[in-house]
Amino acid sequence: MEKLMIRGGRPLRGTVQISGAKNSAVALVPAAILAETEVVLDNLPQISDVAVYSDILQDLGAKVERNGDTMKIDPSRLIPKPMPNGKVKLLRASYYLMGAMLGRFGEAIIGLPGGCNFEPRPIDQHIKGFEALGATVTNEHGAIRITAKQLRGAKIYLDVASVGATINIMLAASRAKGSTIIENAAKEPEIIDVATLLNAMGATIKGAGTETIRIEGVDRLHGCRHSIIPDRIQAGTYMIAAAATRGDVLIDNIIPKHMEAITAKLEEMGVEVHEMDESIRIVGGPHYTAIDVKALVYPGFATDLQSPMTTLLTQAKGVSILTDYVYGTRFKHVPELARMGANIRVEGRSAIIEGGKLNAAKVKAADLRAGAALVVAALTVEDGVTEITGVEYIDRGYDHLVENLSRLGAEVWRVNDSE
Ligand code: EPU
Repeated sequence: MEKLMIRGGRPLRGTVQISGAKNSAVALVPAAILAETEVVLDNLPQISDVAVYSDILQDLGAKVERNGDTMKIDPSRLIPKPMPNGKVKLLRASYYLMGAMLGRFGEAIIGLPGGCNFEPRPIDQHIKGFEALGATVTNEHGAIRITAKQLRGAKIYLDVASVGATINIMLAASRAKGSTIIENAAKEPEIIDVATLLNAMGATIKGAGTETIRIEGVDRLHGCRHSIIPDRIQAGTYMIAAAATRGDVLIDNIIPKHMEAITAKLEEMGVEVHEMDESIRIVGGPHYTAIDVKALVYPGFATDLQSPMTTLLTQAKGVSILTDYVYGTRFKHVPELARMGANIRVEGRSAIIEGGKLNAAKVKAADLRAGAALVVAALTVEDGVTEITGVEYIDRGYDHLVENLSRLGAEVWRVNDSE
């Protein structure tokens, strides 16, 4: 186990290149197994979730070759092996194997997903979707068994606009007989990315990115080449870190349209944001105003940026209120920020944050984005070194974090936890 050491107090300056999106990659890699020939994915992030997924596909018999940001997946010899335990438990997004295996083989036996458990994360809408497509779903000793002789298109209304359920239904329905309509579908950019890949594989999916998605099932899907969209959460985290350290950073290789909610909130606080075609420049200022933020489904403010945003709001003058309408108890970063001197209290699904200086401390990342909040906090501390444990969570979603921050002038290094 490693820990992250950060000596803060330096404004971040320079350019950071954003990698492909984690939450697309963890859907696109399993989506590739729906094809019967080779799929090539470009702009893949170098994060542990992708490495685990690549191992899972190899365990299932796929040939996987990784070369830098490119991965070649040949799923032609894949076998429908049950995966009740093991690596699937390391990932939240292993649930995408359910839709992908069901679509390809009419059967999937997959252990309940692991990953960041910042609060109970049900998959009832995924199951409801599979059942609507004609599958039988049973829970066998903690694993989900899903079988269907023939998947048939259906009209499915999602009770909550779930990203995972929308993608999982798209995966299975792309190989069903007839048409499927998903109503109240999630609209996140990652959903468009998955639909783009599936369409390039020969599927017929229309309306991804809106609340109604139509899928015409096809008998076969084939290989293709696809480049993954930039990671808007990683980009947003660097925007926040640049503002929090009063730095001047160009966040490059992004889609600024995906960043509208965070851009608006930073501007409201008094951060300078300059938008270009494929990049955004953040120029921090000496004083920020307290604001209210509501985390919602896309295009609202992303829940995944809620934790690092909490840290930034500690740098504003006055009292800010941050409310998470997606995950009402996603506040594991708050007690750790309190150890660093933050004045925050949680009431219901809101964090009430009073601005003030942070100090160095030994803290623990309890999940991926809580870890990002602590990294940003440590970067603002003027004296001393902050030690962050739980780095394995941060490595799930931040590609080359230490290298990127070092290039921006931060003093950050890893040490072995036993040292
Ligand atoms: N929900 C249900 N039933 C379901 C599915 C979801 O009630 O069957 C609820 C959840 O409890 C939550 C809301 O619906 O309140 C939204 O959950 P969603 O299904 O959209 O989340 P997810 O697909 O499991 C993805 C991202 C998360 C991100 C959320 C929300 C992936 C692999 N994960 O999760 O990313 O927080 O969407 O945008 O795409 C992260 O990157 O740190 C992360 C946790």
